Amino acid sequence: MKHSTATVLALLAVVAQYPSHAAPADPKVIIIGAGMSGISAGNRLSEAGITDFVILEATDRMGGRIHKTEFAGVNVEMGANWVEGVNGDEMNPIWNMANGTGGLNLRTFRSDFNHLSSNTYKQDGGLYDKKCVEKVIKRMDEVEESGSKLSGTLHHSGQQDMSVMSMQRLTSQMPDGPSTPVDMVVDYYQHDFQFAEPPRVTSLQNTQPLPTFNDFGDDVYFVADQRGYESVVHHVAEQYLKTDPESGAIVDPRLKLNTVVREIAYSPIGVVVRTEDDKVYRADYVIVSASLGVLQTDLIRFEPQLPSWKSMSIYKFNMAVYTKIFLKFPKRFWPEGPGTEFFLYASGRRGYYPVWQQLEKQYPGSNVLLVTITDDESRRIEQQSDEQTMEEAMEVLRKMFPEKDVPEATEILVPRWWSNRFFKGTFSNWPIGVSRYEFDLIRAPVGTVYFTGEHTSEKYNGYVHGAYLAGIDSANILINCAKKNMCTYNVKGKHD
Ligand SMILES: Cc1cc2nc3c(=O)[nH]c(=O)nc-3n(C[C@H](O)[C@H](O)[C@H](O)COP(=O)(O)OP(=O)(O)OC[C@H]3O[C@@H](n4cnc5c(N)ncnc54)[C@H](O)[C@@H]3O)c2cc1C
Ligand SMILES: *[C@@H]1O[C@H](CO)[C@@H](O)[C@H](O)[C@H]1NC(C)=O
Repeated sequence: MKHSTATVLALLAVVAQYPSHAAPADPKVIIIGAGMSGISAGNRLSEAGITDFVILEATDRMGGRIHKTEFAGVNVEMGANWVEGVNGDEMNPIWNMANGTGGLNLRTFRSDFNHLSSNTYKQDGGLYDKKCVEKVIKRMDEVEESGSKLSGTLHHSGQQDMSVMSMQRLTSQMPDGPSTPVDMVVDYYQHDFQFAEPPRVTSLQNTQPLPTFNDFGDDVYFVADQRGYESVVHHVAEQYLKTDPESGAIVDPRLKLNTVVREIAYSPIGVVVRTEDDKVYRADYVIVSASLGVLQTDLIRFEPQLPSWKSMSIYKFNMAVYTKIFLKFPKRFWPEGPGTEFFLYASGRRGYYPVWQQLEKQYPGSNVLLVTITDDESRRIEQQSDEQTMEEAMEVLRKMFPEKDVPEATEILVPRWWSNRFFKGTFSNWPIGVSRYEFDLIRAPVGTVYFTGEHTSEKYNGYVHGAYLAGIDSANILINCAKKNMCTYNVKGKHD
């Protein structure tokens, strides 16, 4: 059929009223969550020519667990802070964006953990002898090494998996695991500071060796840029979402902030998504990027309920909690200069204000300390007042530096990721008792419902690069179905 010129002009007029970035009434895909993985999935769909989607985000911002905030006159990171896995055989895709040519050129600092033996404080003050801590670190490193070897010999079904702590008992003749304050804080630094859960919980087979460092390198770079680490999410978003030419802000109507999804009704012919303010969105497919912690709650109701193979895999994996407490002081009283950035507090209570970082290099003149706590201590601290937490931290600092005049902190920042119903923790950790097969089920689609997020990353769960790559992978699974009609997704069988 041939259109007359008048019809074509009329059509053009209609098209002009709905510029290509208008939100489609019935999009093909609904993406839930505008964190790194959801934004990455949208980018991959766009590349494949699927542009009729909406992104529904519960909070008032894009970025999710990558979140800068103003503290002590500078922007600090409440969530992810490091690009982890740099200077290895493969290029970490996040490092490529953060530092690479044509990238963001973010202000970053390679973290140097080589001086901990000179910076480990006793429970009641003063430093441990350097040689003594060196010995502890050396022994623990040897244990780790034999742990990695042992891990490689375990049957790939996962049936022989054990906790990292079991491995420590096996290989180091420490029947109780590390139990003196100095052993415990070094152990904490080596494990909890990375995985946010203790070695008693963490799977040996699935964390040693760790693909992140094996593939991308052992170095980690601390991001301290006033644009925030979240600018990497923005960087991906602006590849396909409309931005305001002046402010650079995302103004694409397909991104809907302050939109809390409460129900996903799904069937072979499509999905109906309901939000807290009773709006209804329909599409052919939905991609859920909400954190593992959120999936373990009833914030999002699935109709029908997810099959038990799916919910089992979700409930068996762990959402860990990692809390970065920032403190500002009127003056500095801690050692400064090369080799002083990180220091440890060896309490008899494992995990009590254990790992400290002075940020003079990153934020000169700001007089800010960062202390990291995890797991049960995090949950405890989230439930008490910030004043109480400040008191505890001050007591620890005064114990560490008995000879110094330690002034009261003037400001404190205590992020509460665990209490927040849109996160319910900070990142996933692989516990004993979950095989590779069961982990892969977390990623597997259920009919028209697809899953993404750091907890679905094939090799890098827990990390920003894991979230980014998972977004691409999950979008690819959906693209195979939508464009090539390849809709069956096979997870390797339990005993394959
Ligand atoms: C304190 C902390 C420290 C970390 N440190 C590092 C680090 O140094 N290096 C590193 O690589 N990684 C680190 N991580 C992990 C990293 O931040 C995450 O792996 C990654 O950002 C997760 O991205 P995501 O897209 O999977 O999830 P998210 O960022 O959680 O994105 C999911 C989005 O879904 C939204 N959402 C949830 N529920 C709903 C709903 N019902 N309806 C609509 N939207 C919803 C959320 O608001 C969120 O924006 C850290 C994380 C935290 C919190
Ligand atoms: C980061 O980028 C700079 C400038 O391009 C380069 O000189 C440097 O080697 C890069 N760093 C790493 C660790 O790749």
